[in-house]
Amino acid sequence: MEIFISKSEEETIEKGKEFAKQLQPGSLVALYGDLGAGKTQFVKGVCRTFEVKETVNSPTFTIVNEYHGTVPIFHIDLYRIKDIDEIFGIGFDEYMDSGGICLVEWAEKLDGIIPDNRYEVRMSVVDDSTREIAIAFINGQN
Ligand SMILES: Nc1ncnc2c1ncn2[C@@H]1O[C@H](COP(=O)(O)OP(=O)(O)OP(=O)(O)O)[C@@H](O)[C@H]1O
Ligand SMILES: [Mg+2]
Repeated sequence: MEIFISKSEEETIEKGKEFAKQLQPGSLVALYGDLGAGKTQFVKGVCRTFEVKETVNSPTFTIVNEYHGTVPIFHIDLYRIKDIDEIFGIGFDEYMDSGGICLVEWAEKLDGIIPDNRYEVRMSVVDDSTREIAIAFINGQN
């Protein structure tokens, strides 16, 4: 696991950009952290690496934003999702199998159905402008 302290929104975006270099088509990135922890800023950085031209915003109302980068990117926000049926209802399985990169905010809602192999990005607020970002690769074989 790697722990990084970000001192600004821009540093978090930069961190996301650098982190993204190891991602492959089909990668899943599970993001955890409270409202305003910086999950969406981190996703913005990931999208820069894949040259996404669309605006990257938290898809809180739409649940899923699809971006057309050098790899398709599905930005999913499960904040408003109530149960696992709803997760399957939005086509979660199809996004996972699409060969795109899936970035999931509020990934705790995937409890019990989260795929074995994934990156976990855990963000927490230290103070107004400081965030702790813990990054791990989880391999189901372990
Ligand atoms: N070091 C930092 N890294 C990231 N964001 C920061 C930092 N310092 C301050 N901020 C601010 O915190 C907010 C983070 O918002 P962001 O939308 O990324 O959070 P989120 O985790 O996606 O929340 P939500 O669960 O509501 O979608 C922004 O307003 C940003 O400017
Ligand atoms: Mg967000």
